[in-house]
Amino acid sequence: MSDSLVIKGFGGKRELDGIVRVPGAKNAALKAIVAGILFRDELTLSNIPEINDIEKIFELLKEMGGEVTRLGRGKYTVFIPKGFSTEISPAIAKRMRASVVLTGPILARFGKVSFPHPGGCIIGARPVDFFIDGFQKMGATVKVNDNMYSVTAENGLHGAELFLKNQSVTVTETFIMAGLLAKGTTVIKNVAMEPEIAELVNFLNKCGAKITGAGTPTITIKGGKLLSGKGKLYKTMPDRIDAGSFLILGALAARELHIKNCNPKHLEALIEILRQAGVSVETKKTEIIVRAPSAIKPIDIKTHEYPGFPTDLQAPITVLLTQATGESKVFETIFEGRLNYTEELVAMGASITVMDPHRILVHGNSELKGRKLTSPDLRAGLAFVIAAVVAKGESVIHNVDTTIDRGYENVEKRLRAIGVNVERVLVVPETPVVPIAPKD
Ligand code: EPU
Repeated sequence: MSDSLVIKGFGGKRELDGIVRVPGAKNAALKAIVAGILFRDELTLSNIPEINDIEKIFELLKEMGGEVTRLGRGKYTVFIPKGFSTEISPAIAKRMRASVVLTGPILARFGKVSFPHPGGCIIGARPVDFFIDGFQKMGATVKVNDNMYSVTAENGLHGAELFLKNQSVTVTETFIMAGLLAKGTTVIKNVAMEPEIAELVNFLNKCGAKITGAGTPTITIKGGKLLSGKGKLYKTMPDRIDAGSFLILGALAARELHIKNCNPKHLEALIEILRQAGVSVETKKTEIIVRAPSAIKPIDIKTHEYPGFPTDLQAPITVLLTQATGESKVFETIFEGRLNYTEELVAMGASITVMDPHRILVHGNSELKGRKLTSPDLRAGLAFVIAAVVAKGESVIHNVDTTIDRGYENVEKRLRAIGVNVERVLVVPETPVVPIAPKD
């Protein structure tokens, strides 16, 4: 049994208007919650998005001995006691790839951590070599047995100089947290510069950490004691991928869409590209106003670490390019499995040539037709929502609870508020669809 979204498309007409409010960022909130391991007391967090991935990370922390209390909508406390488990079981890791960021703070605080080797996931191989290499450089011993890594640092971690071969987001965050409780100074070079990292660092510094350089290619962490959350409140920054996804939807189908509670500065790469494609985008301090143009110009896209074009918006922008007046190239440089969704777009009527696992040609001028769609991952899921709105006829997007709901809060409620004809249904195998009450 799983949830599906049924969407009746506009067939290319510009029918949407109104306001979309952007929730807190999934990929910021997840790491702030995990950072609770570095606190000797309670950590209070706000503007936490109500999405499946957040529910899962709270469940994991509770299963491992953590205490999580919901104070109200989006507001929680997290407390990690001394007896917290140091084993990230395969069952846990399988449920959530991001659980790998637990390794750094657990190892730094408790002197050991064990975790499984993650298999390849739908968006491509997700290696852990940077994690292993960094832990060893910080003085830990790593043993591999039955696909499980056992990492120990009986006398604690020591500071080290690390150079990341790729600007990995979760690796950067893991070693910031590991370095925080290590003896001496840790310097990480060629780090990721995503704004979620700077936000985490700013908050940790408010709570007693000594970290400099976030937002630049080199981060330096002076090791010290457990932090204190007393009198501090973490407020999650707006989700730039959620905002960007609605911005692309607006660029295709809106008379006028106001995207509120966002930070346009975090979306410069997308805004620049949309403007070059002829879309009217106006920015204010915390709001973006978008109007679909009468014609979209073709434009080439290359995903890149921040501040470049985010891989998490690659599938949504490809849908936009199917409606452009000519041919565009899309080059996905981060993950090799992140173009898998294009087959479904082609089945809807898009004209796309796959050049290799990283590159496609989008020929544009396509009339999309509604159909049944199964998304390979959450970002492609939202891309299918956009395609379904643009298409002629009805689309049914399956497996919403394991894809779109992982990262987009109240998706159908927010879509409906701007004029999308969308309904959530429960699909029971072998039986007809059963409408269910909208979640709020
Ligand atoms: N990499 C290695 N070795 C490692 C770790 C990473 O080679 O030990 C490589 C990866 O294979 C990849 C590159 O480094 O080619 C960059 O991947 P990164 O590690 O930055 O990805 P991530 O940290 O696992 C985060 C987000 C992703 C987002 C990417 C890129 C979280 C929980 N996940 O993943 O978000 O796409 O950064 O911005 O923060 C999503 O939200 O849908 C999502 C997948």
